[in-house]
Amino acid sequence: MTVRIGMIGPGGMGQAHIDRIHTVIAGGRVVAVSDVDEVRAKEVASRIGGTAYADSASLIAADEVDAVMICSYGPAHEVDVLAAIAAGKPVFCEKPLTPTADAALRIMEAEEAGGRRLVTVGFMRRFDRSYRQMKELLDSGELGETLMVHCAHRNPTVPEHYTWDMAINDTAIHEIDTLRWLLGEEFVSARVDKPKKTSLRFEHLQDPLVLVLETESGVRVDDEIFVNCQFGYDIRCEAVAEKGTVSLGDQNAIVVRDGAGVRNSIARDHNDRFWGAFVTEVQEWVDAVAVGEHTGSTSWDGYAAACVCDAGVRALTDDGVVKVEMIAKPDFYA
Ligand SMILES: NC(=O)c1ccc[n+]([C@@H]2O[C@H](COP(=O)([O-])OP(=O)(O)OC[C@H]3O[C@@H](n4cnc5c(N)ncnc54)[C@H](O)[C@@H]3O)[C@@H](O)[C@H]2O)c1
Repeated sequence: MTVRIGMIGPGGMGQAHIDRIHTVIAGGRVVAVSDVDEVRAKEVASRIGGTAYADSASLIAADEVDAVMICSYGPAHEVDVLAAIAAGKPVFCEKPLTPTADAALRIMEAEEAGGRRLVTVGFMRRFDRSYRQMKELLDSGELGETLMVHCAHRNPTVPEHYTWDMAINDTAIHEIDTLRWLLGEEFVSARVDKPKKTSLRFEHLQDPLVLVLETESGVRVDDEIFVNCQFGYDIRCEAVAEKGTVSLGDQNAIVVRDGAGVRNSIARDHNDRFWGAFVTEVQEWVDAVAVGEHTGSTSWDGYAAACVCDAGVRALTDDGVVKVEMIAKPDFYA
């Protein structure tokens, strides 16, 4: 069976997913698109030989659409995820599921009322080979208990419309989800340290910043967010355990050794660094949809990440440690 996918918001991320689905991923085809930018929707539809729908509601309702992929921007996700749940169609929603925890809670309630897990959130780092190897080692207990994790998330630059809170709820959200998964526990508090700002940024941003999180068992995670670092897309993660440490390899690339020195190229962006993770993530989703199963991060993961983001955003404006407020995990997501 070929899963017929309707794509909402085929911008940068959406078109990268379409390219993967139509080149290296088996079992799926994007047959329909919709976008608030109608010209873009028509252009993408004609390129892939699909249908351009005037709005997301008619795309979700269309008989030719088996499953929905949402790649519009965060605040627009909720209404389309809810419509997909109401239509009983599996939906892959790019991160963040929603920019606030309240909105994610409404999605969880609707999904639970429908009695079936339909929502997968696009937290692709869980599918990255090196993060998976880290998790396997930490879970084995060979290094003892994990005590601290040091992370960095550096981007070359961000556009002017990147708002002050996005450092937390659009960028750090990746480490928040990945570390919840890696450590297998929830965060209970957030604090933000604000170092000297780079002059190479828009005035409204605190860049860099360090988000400091604590888990239920007391593991301390620090996450350097530096979104105008100029030089590349640089993702780091080192877990410090009782008997050793484990880190991501550097850049996931080959190393050249010659008369000029020893070097490897720096990743330029998320598609460059996490190509393999995106492919695995979407392939597993298509495979699961084809057999009526759920895979990947759930609405609960989207909600839990949003709760930590809410605390992080508050910590960015009110100095000090902010408690993460979260409901108990419903049995439906156990
Ligand atoms: N997993 C990752 O590493 C990763 C990386 C980049 C972006 N993203 C996420 O992907 C999503 C899209 O990001 P992007 O970089 O592709 O943005 P983009 O601006 O390039 O594309 C967004 C598209 O959505 C359309 N759109 C906006 N509102 C809409 C609505 N209400 N209905 C239909 N279409 C709408 C826009 O016209 C545009 O075509 C965001 O949620 C972002 O956080 C994830």
